[in-house]
Amino acid sequence: MVIAFALGLAACGSQPQLSDAVFTTAHRSPGEAARHFFNSHPRPQQPLAFPHKTHIEKKAECTDCHETVERGPVAGIPSVKACMICHSQIATSKPLIKEVTSYSDRGIEIPWQRVYGFYPESHVRFNHAPHIRAKVDCAACHGDVANMTVAERVVDHTMGFCVNCHKQKNASNDCLTCHF
Ligand code: HEC
Ligand code: HEC
Ligand code: HEC
Ligand code: HEC
Ligand code: HEC
Repeated sequence: MVIAFALGLAACGSQPQLSDAVFTTAHRSPGEAARHFFNSHPRPQQPLAFPHKTHIEKKAECTDCHETVERGPVAGIPSVKACMICHSQIATSKPLIKEVTSYSDRGIEIPWQRVYGFYPESHVRFNHAPHIRAKVDCAACHGDVANMTVAERVVDHTMGFCVNCHKQKNASNDCLTCHF
């Protein structure tokens, strides 16, 4: 069965269906502050295992779910409402889908943990849209998410990583391009 992803999601109109429950970085404990100092990013524990690979195999496009990636700074994480466009009918008897449905029934967003991101003290400003316009692939910065079960942080977003490509592509390496 091939699912018409574009059709299904387009049906909800131009209003982006984005989650606002995404974890944002802030020091919540001394341990966390120490991790920031050493700039380590522990592997996030997701509330449920969302399989990217399964959805891409069913012909979903990255932009079906990360709707704002071509237009603005953030890619956007889909709201549970967007999941239910399909999962009110698809695979409803599977345990993981029952969990998704339960969030939706309670009117609660799934509390996804961030995989990528900068700590506030790095003062980095990132913007997706100019990269997508310049035809930089998602995979250049996120690895082969299309073949991942759960999204993992496989690319280290260090300053060298950004600056090297900017040098190659003649993009600005002015400090204020990336820092505030
Ligand atoms: C059916 C919806 C859907 C599609 C299609 C989809 N994603 Fe996702 N993506 C999600 C959800 C939900 C999350 C949050 C859960 C997670 O991080 O495992 C996520 C998380 C991510 C993250 C981690 C974000 C962060 O920093 O927390 C990246 C990177 C990502 N997706 C890239 C992609 C790429 C690249 C594609 C296309 C190859 C894609 N996604 C297709 C729904 C989707
Ligand atoms: C356009 C349709 C569509 C959308 C939107 C969609 N999915 Fe799916 N999803 C599928 C299909 C098709 C499968 C494969 C079902 C199967 O194997 O029976 C699937 C499989 C899954 C599975 C694996 C179930 C299992 O145990 O095998 C999970 C978990 C899942 N989806 C979660 C989500 C979440 C969370 C969202 C919202 C971020 C979402 N899906 C959005 C179509 C969709
Ligand atoms: C030039 C590198 C680069 C490219 C290309 C890129 N990303 Fe990202 N992405 C990042 C960085 C850096 C972050 C963390 C930004 C932050 O937290 O400020 C991020 C964060 C994300 C997130 C989580 C936060 C958010 O913005 O919603 C998702 C989802 C995501 N990217 C998806 C994608 C998808 C899908 C594509 C391709 C259409 C893509 N990215 C292309 C570098 C990139
Ligand atoms: C694989 C190549 C590549 C990587 C990696 C990359 N960039 Fe870029 N970046 C570009 C290109 C190409 C442009 C577009 C330049 C243009 O529009 O003229 C750009 C543009 C930008 C812009 C907008 C500049 C402007 O003048 O509007 C910002 C901000 C930016 N990048 C930040 C980052 C940060 C931060 C990172 C690292 C997390 C990063 N980039 C990694 C290629 C890359
Ligand atoms: C193309 C994007 C880009 C440009 C241009 C850039 N930086 Fe960075 N910078 C980054 C990123 C990404 C990081 C790493 C953030 C992280 O590791 O979390 C970083 C980290 C840093 C840090 C370390 C901050 C910390 O985490 O403790 C300093 C200091 C810094 N940059 C200064 C500069 C200065 C000075 C310039 C101009 C000469 C500059 N940067 C230009 C992207 C950039």
